[in-house]
Amino acid sequence: MSDAVLLEVVNLSKRFGGITALNNVSMRITKGEILGIIGPNGAGKTTLVNCVTGIYKPDGGKVLFLGEDITGRQPHFIALKGIARTWQKIRPFYNMTVIEAVTAGALLRTKDVLKAREEAAEILEFVGIPRSKFEVLGKNIALIEHKLVDLARAIATKPKLLFLDEVVAGLRPHEVDVIADVVKKVNREMGITLGVIEHVMRFVMNISDRIVVLHEGRLLTQGKPAEVARDPLVVEAYLGTKPV
Ligand SMILES: Nc1ncnc2c1ncn2[C@@H]1O[C@H](COP(=O)(O)OP(=O)(O)OP(=O)(O)O)[C@@H](O)[C@H]1O
Ligand SMILES: [Mg+2]
Repeated sequence: MSDAVLLEVVNLSKRFGGITALNNVSMRITKGEILGIIGPNGAGKTTLVNCVTGIYKPDGGKVLFLGEDITGRQPHFIALKGIARTWQKIRPFYNMTVIEAVTAGALLRTKDVLKAREEAAEILEFVGIPRSKFEVLGKNIALIEHKLVDLARAIATKPKLLFLDEVVAGLRPHEVDVIADVVKKVNREMGITLGVIEHVMRFVMNISDRIVVLHEGRLLTQGKPAEVARDPLVVEAYLGTKPV
């Protein structure tokens, strides 16, 4: 793993009326790593991804991707630069088939629909969706398949950096293990750097090289999973009380 910086966020701030969702957050994502991003509800995790990917314009600070200032640029521009994400709230593609949903992702980089469809098919198989499911409508697939199709759609945009926002929420333990294996494979075999936002500690601690912790819009701490797990500040943030 090289230690080249892929993404650098400097003093990022975002307010919604009286709420400061991000308060001077500075952090880096290194090329090749799986970075876990954790923190209690409302910590600012999704807002961070929304600011990086151009969904929201930050009120202050900078976002640098491969050294280029992309702060406040449009989502399409940022996707073309190579940052993709999946969504915390499932965005159902009810009336699209599985293959159509992923082809839509591949069409970011080509106008050739047939080529995009071939790429989509390869990626779907890579994440473990069999060909027999390709023509099934989004409204007829299981939650885990939905998560895998959304992951495949994001991969089809050929990102250098991919954010997963609570990709295992709502899944059963054995399904969480399936996703963990796929995510590690995406990182190792496709060479995609990952920012994994997660509440399921067993999952995020297992797959991450490094963890950053957000709390009330601030960066609370960062480190190796084992260090972060036993950090009293982190325990306090989650329990909302000082340990005795
Ligand atoms: N579009 C918005 N309008 C108003 N407030 C918002 C908006 N988006 C986020 N917030 C607020 O900003 C704060 C941070 O929210 P955010 O969704 O980033 O937290 P989170 O860490 O992703 O939490 P969770 O783990 O529950 O998903 C919260 O107080 C939230 O209510
Ligand atoms: Mg969130």
